[in-house]
Amino acid sequence: MRIAIVGYGYWGPNLLRNFSAIKDCELAYVCDFRPERLSLVAAINPSVICTSRFEDLLDDASLDAVVIATPVFTHFDLAKKALLSGKHVLIEKPMTSSAAEAKELIEIADRTHKILMVDHTFLYTGAVQKIKQLMADGVIGKPTYFDSTRINLGLFQPDINVLWDLAPHDLSILDYLIDDVPYSVNATGVSHTGNDIENIAYLTINYQSGFIAHFNCSWSSPVKLRNILIGGDKKMLLFNDLEPSEKLRIYDTGYDHKSDEDKRRVMVDYRAGDVFIPKVAQKEALFGMASDFVASIREERSPVSSALSGLRVINILEASQKSIKSNGKEIVLQWN
Ligand SMILES: NC(=O)c1ccc[n+]([C@@H]2O[C@H](COP(=O)([O-])OP(=O)(O)OC[C@H]3O[C@@H](n4cnc5c(N)ncnc54)[C@H](O)[C@@H]3O)[C@@H](O)[C@H]2O)c1
Repeated sequence: MRIAIVGYGYWGPNLLRNFSAIKDCELAYVCDFRPERLSLVAAINPSVICTSRFEDLLDDASLDAVVIATPVFTHFDLAKKALLSGKHVLIEKPMTSSAAEAKELIEIADRTHKILMVDHTFLYTGAVQKIKQLMADGVIGKPTYFDSTRINLGLFQPDINVLWDLAPHDLSILDYLIDDVPYSVNATGVSHTGNDIENIAYLTINYQSGFIAHFNCSWSSPVKLRNILIGGDKKMLLFNDLEPSEKLRIYDTGYDHKSDEDKRRVMVDYRAGDVFIPKVAQKEALFGMASDFVASIREERSPVSSALSGLRVINILEASQKSIKSNGKEIVLQWN
């Protein structure tokens, strides 16, 4: 299988390293506007064709797939052209700039029978796969909340706000782990740079079942935190991605409540029991993601990180943007 990478900035080299490690997969091209980036590729990978012309990839009938790692506003146009030229396509997160664009790409991929996938890298981490298994085994019981914090002194992006930059990771994890359908969002945020691009944002996703999800994203924190708390009616789980090995902790913590006869007073019984640290496989998530893309093409099956999950993430981001610009107004999500 012959593959090309478009965009060799910060993330492109990680993709190159992982696709190069896949058996029976030839990294044929790297395409970037910037000649200085291409010379870096040429210096260490003399067999890779380096080009600044995207059309070279489209014109090569023996090229099977294109991996897009450029800024988000370019994703739709590049992916559409690649699909229409008969290539399978992997797009970096976030999939597109709008849900309408994501839907159009999915339609084209369906029509042309090509694999369209989004790189939601976290779905391939040992920690998230372990959480999925623990939840399927009923360890935490019925999920009640999802609360994520992804903050640090981050790189201010010139074209997208902090939610579009950071929340796709957590939204894709939520989408993967929780079967319930989100009903609406409320989001607030602030831009401290005078360009209307929020550097701090808070998003709440409401569900009709009573489940709730909350996301705290910031490029303006002096400390780096990467935490997800998932509450269940039996146990609660903490995923701390900054822990080198003990990334997951299951707390046998919970509460039961009952109302007294006139229902005005709720009595709560608390339980704080043992903490269990499950073993998490240490593996390179990006290699798992790249392998899933190649295998899904070979086996003609949908990848774990599907284009539909990419669309669901974009749908929430788009609604959040509307909510932020309307001072946190509730926006009901449209799913068709
Ligand atoms: N999965 C992850 O964990 C992860 C991590 C970081 C970034 N990303 C995603 O990867 C994508 C790229 O991010 P980045 O930080 O590497 O950006 P970047 O700005 O560092 O690099 C983008 C590169 O694309 C090139 N480029 C732009 N438009 C082009 C075009 N039309 N044709 C050819 N080259 C073009 C630029 O010259 C640049 O070298 C974004 O979608 C980002 O969200 C994903």
